[in-house]
Amino acid sequence: MIAPRRFLQAFIFLSVAVLAIAQDDIQEEPPAGEDPVDTGVDVDDVGEDSYKSVKGTAKKAWQNFKPSLAHWSNKRCVENSDAVGILARLSASGFIATHIVRKLMQDGYAVRGTVRSVSSSNAKHLQTLSAESGGEGTLELVEADLLSTEDWTNITASASYVVHCASPFQVSGKDDDFSAALVGTRRVVQAAIDTPSVKRVIVTSSIAAVSSGRDDVHLCTFTPDDWSDADKSDPYPKSKTLAEKEARQLVANQPAGRGLELVTINPGFVVGPSLSERQDFVSFDTIKRLLNGSVPAAPSLSLSIVHVDDVAEAHVRALSRGKPGGRYICWSGNLWLYEVCQCMRNNESITSYRVRLPYFRAPNFLVWTIGLCDKTARAIVSRLGVESFYDTSSTTSELGIAFKSADDAVVDAALDMLQRGLV
Ligand SMILES: *[C@@H]1O[C@H](CO)[C@@H](O)[C@H](O)[C@H]1NC(C)=O
Ligand SMILES: *[C@@H]1O[C@H](CO)[C@@H](O)[C@H](O)[C@H]1NC(C)=O
Ligand SMILES: *[C@@H]1O[C@H](CO)[C@@H](O)[C@H](O)[C@H]1NC(C)=O
Repeated sequence: MIAPRRFLQAFIFLSVAVLAIAQDDIQEEPPAGEDPVDTGVDVDDVGEDSYKSVKGTAKKAWQNFKPSLAHWSNKRCVENSDAVGILARLSASGFIATHIVRKLMQDGYAVRGTVRSVSSSNAKHLQTLSAESGGEGTLELVEADLLSTEDWTNITASASYVVHCASPFQVSGKDDDFSAALVGTRRVVQAAIDTPSVKRVIVTSSIAAVSSGRDDVHLCTFTPDDWSDADKSDPYPKSKTLAEKEARQLVANQPAGRGLELVTINPGFVVGPSLSERQDFVSFDTIKRLLNGSVPAAPSLSLSIVHVDDVAEAHVRALSRGKPGGRYICWSGNLWLYEVCQCMRNNESITSYRVRLPYFRAPNFLVWTIGLCDKTARAIVSRLGVESFYDTSSTTSELGIAFKSADDAVVDAALDMLQRGLV
């Protein structure tokens, strides 16, 4: 589906934005008395070669582009901020947790899940999940909050497994923000240690705990033996790295003879259909922005994608398979943002909806130029053009996961949100 207006807008954006930025007034409001700059571009206007309209287009594109950069800076990662996941039996209302809970129920587990508020809309979908899952499993929801519930042992009581898949992360970027993730992990893992019936605890970590802050990104394929350099990482990967280390430390220091096993699942950028109305997870927002026309041109950012189904399946299998202390990376492959757009554009079910995918890549020098005067853009400059590769062979051989393709993850996510009218 050709969208000439988008096409022109992106083209003009690419050719003019740098010039306009150089003029240094593109961020400013028009001076009083001057007509507000025309923000729409009519195809007819463009032929007139009006400087003002071209500049207006660049300005509009810039206004769209800047927030889209903010979106990709790591500070925005708030996945699972409210969902406290857990256990099994345990669990929660987050994006990944909901998929895990559904699979556990299909497999016949009695799941006890924690949510911050049973009556909140964020927990509603869980109530209907049991009916829909078609399995023998049951779901009991209890209220708990990682940050305020200190004693979790009455929640983990009598459970055989604990799955901790919530990681609260606050956005403001202050130093102690990641203490939330640490405190939550400490409380849940300690409760698992203190509950004799619990045989194994599964902690959802991330590839952010594997490959962040490393200088050798270009040189290697990261394996489960690799660790991020927390001191050189942004707040989000830093919080994931410290939280995973904390969990391992606690289990290593458990009382002699206790024998609790820890397994971590380290997924990449988790993409796929949501089982709830919640839209507050990062991949949802990314795909939505690409579809809804708020990204005029895609910066050269690589996403290390994995399908949410595979991530949930890895958690469930890790209850009974996988080595104690194992670290299982979940990753299907990388897609550049423009490839993400490409695979959505190639699926006719997606293009039968009104979608406004960007046609162009934003050249690195442009993002770099913007970065000179904008902190948000600067935050992603170091990630431009950088890809990381991961060795998932142990996940395949020990947990038996055959990863779906990254393209499928993207298409499934996009179709899901389009079908539900969320774009
Ligand atoms: C755990 O204990 C707290 C405080 O004693 C109580 O408020 C909460 O309801 C209990 N939770 C469960 C699942 O029994
Ligand atoms: C596109 O989606 C993003 C993320 O939800 C939203 O902030 C933005 O306003 C949307 N833009 C348009 C043009 O609908
Ligand atoms: C689009 O994707 C869906 C879901 O993966 C798939 O079932 C369908 O066949 C695809 N359609 C086309 C035309 O590729």
